[in-house]
Amino acid sequence: MTASDPHRLLSPRTIAVTAGRPTEHGAPLNQPIVLASNFRDGGEYTRTHGTQTWIALEAAVGELERGRAIAFASGMAAAAAAVYALAPKVVVIPTHSYLGLRSLLTEYQNQGHVELRPVDIAETAAVAAAAAGADLVWAETPTNPTLDVADLAAIGDIARAVGARLVVDSTFATPLLQRPLEHGATIVIHSGTKFIGGHSDLLIGLCITTDDDVYERLVKARTFQGATPGALEAFLALRGLRTLPIRLEAAQRNALTLVDRLRAHPGVGEVRYPGQGAMVSFVVDGGAPAADSVCEHVRIVVPATSLGGVETTIERRQKYSGDAHVDPGLLRMSVGIEDIEDLWADLAAALAASARFRPAPQ
Ligand SMILES: Cc1ncc(COP(=O)(O)O)c(C=O)c1O
Repeated sequence: MTASDPHRLLSPRTIAVTAGRPTEHGAPLNQPIVLASNFRDGGEYTRTHGTQTWIALEAAVGELERGRAIAFASGMAAAAAAVYALAPKVVVIPTHSYLGLRSLLTEYQNQGHVELRPVDIAETAAVAAAAAGADLVWAETPTNPTLDVADLAAIGDIARAVGARLVVDSTFATPLLQRPLEHGATIVIHSGTKFIGGHSDLLIGLCITTDDDVYERLVKARTFQGATPGALEAFLALRGLRTLPIRLEAAQRNALTLVDRLRAHPGVGEVRYPGQGAMVSFVVDGGAPAADSVCEHVRIVVPATSLGGVETTIERRQKYSGDAHVDPGLLRMSVGIEDIEDLWADLAAALAASARFRPAPQ
């Protein structure tokens, strides 16, 4: 295969821009927003058959992940559909992961539908020990909010060896930084609300699979549970995806600089960064009051709970009961694409304002 071979695999940068576009003569470049529930002369109905707007988004995300994508109303709807589609009995789940997913599965456990085996997903040996007898391994990597990284290749082998399915929530990695299907995942999940949408203006979720049977079951999940994406949301998510590569590059550049400067800052303890991506978590010396003070004093960085937008957002996670295990001073930051010096000046000033909560040096 040569660079001029038209059949070589396209770069993700190119796929993000070109996939899911209409190709008919005279068609608009972007699939329009189809506001329709009903279609004439055929029995097609949006909840069961989708619309061209969803299908365009699914085509683009599917091409990036190298599988078939199904869009849902939110990331949680996608996660719930994955559980419905695989109907597991014994599930290995990450202890430190997105609290919504843990709450959902705990609810199923309380109702007697599943047995959960919580493990540190970054400890491959612990995953291996818990996997025997499990029929599903649920991984999230990097994890929310501590940014632990799972060894997906090893976990894929472990799941295969015990006959368990692997589901990977790849929201923080985006479709650009890892492709879990290539490590044996049956389903990849994205909260498209975050980096794919990229502008904090929509909710959407996606499941991607290469297994035709699982694909059909995921479509059934959406049809029966009715967690369908909105037409405008699907349009905006695809519009967001077009610029994901350049947004992520810019945010990652900012993140790398912030990580260096935070590591050198006397008021900051541990800085957690998986080496790529736009999420950075760091522990402010002085615990919860110091970390809260940082959130109160930032002016450019936005104190907010969601993430993945062009704007930098920050939040102290331990305040949520589902994240009570996290360090009280840990701030999870979703790094945006603002000017790095403006960002750093803002953070440095907020850190200086929190100094009064830090223990005096000995
Ligand atoms: C890693 C991860 N997965 C899933 C979700 C749920 O996505 P949504 O809010 O779109 O339902 C979130 C939301 O914060 C998340 O951070």
